[in-house]
Amino acid sequence: MSTTLDSYGEETGTKDQLVTPWNHQIASGVELLRNPRYNKGLAFTAEERQAHYLRGLLPPAIETQDIQVKRIMRNVRQYAEPLQKYEALMDLQERNERLFYKVLIENVEELLPIVYTPIEGDACEEYGEIFHRSGGLFISLNDKGHILDCLKNWPEKNVEAIVVTDGGRILGLGDLGCQGMGIPVGKLALYTALGGVRPSTTLPIQLDVGTNNQALLDDPFYIGLRQKRVTGQEYDDFIEEFMTAVKQAYGEKILVQFEDFANQNAFRFLAKYSKTHLVFNDDIQGTASVTLAGVLAALPITGGTLADHEFLFFGAGEAGTGIAELIAMEITKHGKISLDEARRKTWLFDTEGLVTKSRKGSLYDYKKPFAHDHEHIKDLVSAIKKLKPTVLIGTSTQGGSFTKEVLEAMAENHKSPIIMALSNPTKKAECTAEDCYKYTKGRALFASGSPFPAVTYDGKKYVIGEANNCYIFPGVAHGCIISGAIRVDAEMFLKAAETLAEFVTKEDLERKQLYPAFPNIRNISAKIAAGVAAAAYDLGLASKIPKPKDLLGLATSSMYSPSYRHYR
Ligand code: NAI
Repeated sequence: MSTTLDSYGEETGTKDQLVTPWNHQIASGVELLRNPRYNKGLAFTAEERQAHYLRGLLPPAIETQDIQVKRIMRNVRQYAEPLQKYEALMDLQERNERLFYKVLIENVEELLPIVYTPIEGDACEEYGEIFHRSGGLFISLNDKGHILDCLKNWPEKNVEAIVVTDGGRILGLGDLGCQGMGIPVGKLALYTALGGVRPSTTLPIQLDVGTNNQALLDDPFYIGLRQKRVTGQEYDDFIEEFMTAVKQAYGEKILVQFEDFANQNAFRFLAKYSKTHLVFNDDIQGTASVTLAGVLAALPITGGTLADHEFLFFGAGEAGTGIAELIAMEITKHGKISLDEARRKTWLFDTEGLVTKSRKGSLYDYKKPFAHDHEHIKDLVSAIKKLKPTVLIGTSTQGGSFTKEVLEAMAENHKSPIIMALSNPTKKAECTAEDCYKYTKGRALFASGSPFPAVTYDGKKYVIGEANNCYIFPGVAHGCIISGAIRVDAEMFLKAAETLAEFVTKEDLERKQLYPAFPNIRNISAKIAAGVAAAAYDLGLASKIPKPKDLLGLATSSMYSPSYRHYR
């Protein structure tokens, strides 16, 4: 077959002159600069430039990685819009992976809100407009029957951890269809930056089963299938094919984190696949673990044990019921009461009001264990006055729903009520930190799902702890990987919560800060990973035999380092 060349010397095959897109890669010269895994930019040494055909391809300056980090941060800080910062960081990840992770690790507190909540939520909303690279696998209904082929097309063969979404319910933003991809990409960046999981072993996946978001379907820049979501058997069969293919491609120990599925599906798939696969759902279990940690950390101030508290959840979805269940498990673990008795200390409140036994007939299964005997109550303030909870947790996606009356009612119940406004992004938070301290007269212990600035009340400065799942999931993933766990057990999330709570210092508590400072997060992840791995060995779920003597040492030393390598 003959092809012609255009003025740039490139082939101009017409439709009847198709050519095969054949190419081979060599890790030198310009290909080396274009390979994000190996590129070091101006940090290539003179010897490396000579040995790898880079002469003339770079300006003469030879820089350290530290200077490169400074330059990136200087540039990122110059952008006024958080979304521009997000794009700049994603560009960096595409250009120079090690530099990206070094920047992220060394500036974790500043950059976390950009690469993770809340800004990654904005990025998902705009994903069609800002899209210029896949960043992971997109598997759509068009790939039915070929999902294994999709996985085989991914260039890395040694994948250990997958984060997968179907975009059904992104953060508190609803159905974003195929534009949910920003979430698996962001979460896996944190697997590496915070949990030390090697980037080459992580795989973000977006399943596209359609979207019911009409605005997206009408948007010319939408990147997904232009059809309504499939449901029922067709949807379940698609997920089943995916879960089967994942094991065929990567084996029994592949970790699959379900992310931002609509809540009914999230509970169903977690229940179904946790028996056959190494899976967890961060929205349910990770959230539960980080929230439990905050409550455990608060106990020295509130006094008493976990079992001495009464919990009310405003919002009874994945987050609310997940937290309620893990709290009940922790009470059972340390007390002499059954799981059912422990569950009776937690109350759920949803769109219909208090979840009670009389509503059992119409409740989803995941709410039923918390449907207790009580008269039905329609409004939150009355529920607080009747039930007298000492802990109020907002997971409702209803911004501002913890009103002055709600907060004042909570202040009646305890000298230091625990109030958590977990809904994300910031505009969805049930109350602000400022209002919480104002209406409880500085007595509450507050934590939020999105970052809030410190608050000064009555001359005292309070730092707002962020119940951020990223304290938990990177360490849990690393622990599963280093132990070769074959299943995830709830005990691992209890262990993670207990470990995280231990990192909260007396000084933190003096500022009413229920979570430790972010800069320490890699150490926290390592300790969590060691605890998770220990649980895997204790429960007979670990496959890496024999059990290493020093799990913490292993968890720490096996963490990915973003420092550049030297090339021969
Ligand atoms: P979901 O959609 O599963 O649940 C939301 C629940 O709120 C549903 O039960 C719904 O019935 C209830 N609800 C809605 N409007 C209500 C109203 N007016 N009154 C009472 N209840 C109402 O969502 P999911 O996954 O539980 O997440 C909830 C929120 O928590 C989201 O904003 C999410 O971003 C946030 N979240 C925060 C986390 C953190 O801070 N670490 C982690 C996970 C979720």
